[in-house]
Amino acid sequence: MTRTLLVTGGAGFIGGNFVRDAIADGHRVINLDALTYAGNLANLADVERLPGYRFVHGDVCDAALLRQLLVDEAIDCIVHCAAESHVDRSILGPAAFVHTNVHGSFVLLEAAREAWGRDAGGKRFLHVSTDEVFGSLDPEEPAFREDTPYRPNSPYSASKAGSDHLARAYFHTFGLPVLVTHCSNNYGPYQFPEKLIPLTILHALRGDPLPVYGDGQHVRDWLYVEDHCAALDCVLSRGRPGDTYNIGGGNQWPNLRIVERICDRLDARLPAARPRRELIRFVDDRPGHDRRYAMDTGKIERELGWGPRHRFDTGLDATIDWYVANRRWCEQVQSGLYREYLATQYEARLQA
Ligand code: NAD
Ligand code: TYD
Repeated sequence: MTRTLLVTGGAGFIGGNFVRDAIADGHRVINLDALTYAGNLANLADVERLPGYRFVHGDVCDAALLRQLLVDEAIDCIVHCAAESHVDRSILGPAAFVHTNVHGSFVLLEAAREAWGRDAGGKRFLHVSTDEVFGSLDPEEPAFREDTPYRPNSPYSASKAGSDHLARAYFHTFGLPVLVTHCSNNYGPYQFPEKLIPLTILHALRGDPLPVYGDGQHVRDWLYVEDHCAALDCVLSRGRPGDTYNIGGGNQWPNLRIVERICDRLDARLPAARPRRELIRFVDDRPGHDRRYAMDTGKIERELGWGPRHRFDTGLDATIDWYVANRRWCEQVQSGLYREYLATQYEARLQA
């Protein structure tokens, strides 16, 4: 069925990959994005002229703009990806996280309630959330389930948890057809290079130090971004409003092993004077650093027939190859502001 989707944050990593897939599937897409440091229209250069696509430069906190778009564009699905998404930045400055993630989600929910009213039949509001709201697991603890209690530990995860609660409340109180997904760490093309995998690839290509927090044994469950987008599509088309769905790769790796694997792959592809593993530096740990995330994805597999299609080794190799082949994109997104962030985040740690 062809739908008209409002995708927020479509100039970011996951939103951009989702927009591309939705257009390929024949949907009309309105991409609303504030173009923060993390948003980049170059991510969608290949679709920007297609008739089913429109970009709107705007903020999810702008209630009037949202109301107008929902009505004028006859939006029937909202896929809410816009967020401040980086844990380290939420430690340096939490205010933007509360503003965009909590207040922005509230404004969007409220605009949808107003525009769709009580007769929201066939409409869908997909709130894209994270596994980080569930907190941290010990090594032997079972994976997070949909009914795992919330225990957010960073300003980022706390702000996402706040928005999840609002989304839930809008379903229960107002009958808004809200669906919530919790996904584990994504990787793949177009990820902003502040996150572990692209940061390691780009630093290793330049011969810069590779910062590994703490002992490098923190574990994340990695999922290729296309698999996440396919899961979002499943939930949008077949999920039950009011329900939540866990999404993950069943693929747990300690950070250090990932960094080492990236070094080895680059050495094999583009040999350097010295093995790149020598660039690894153990630096002061992130405050409040969650030790382990893992997702139980039984519900989405059983009920909606979704499962990851990409293996981690081939997905990681494809990602490394993408960053090697797209140096221009990498240079474009690493503005002066990003270099200032790198200095604030890493300079003192690397000198310690
Ligand atoms: P990202 O940081 O790459 O992109 C976020 C996008 O939102 C950017 O284009 C930015 O310009 C836009 N944006 C920020 N504030 C805005 C505002 N006020 N109004 C409009 N647009 C705004 O993030 P991502 O990695 O693509 O994550 C997308 C969503 O998925 C987020 O909600 C995040 O919490 C969630 N998520 C991410 C991961 C992951 O591993 N990246 C995993 C699970 C869930
Ligand atoms: P990140 O990509 O920031 O995602 P998240 O914090 O949402 O899981 O980090 C992934 C893991 O890598 C996390 O355990 C922190 C660690 N990490 C480093 O060791 N060094 C780094 O420079 C970065 C950015 C992250």
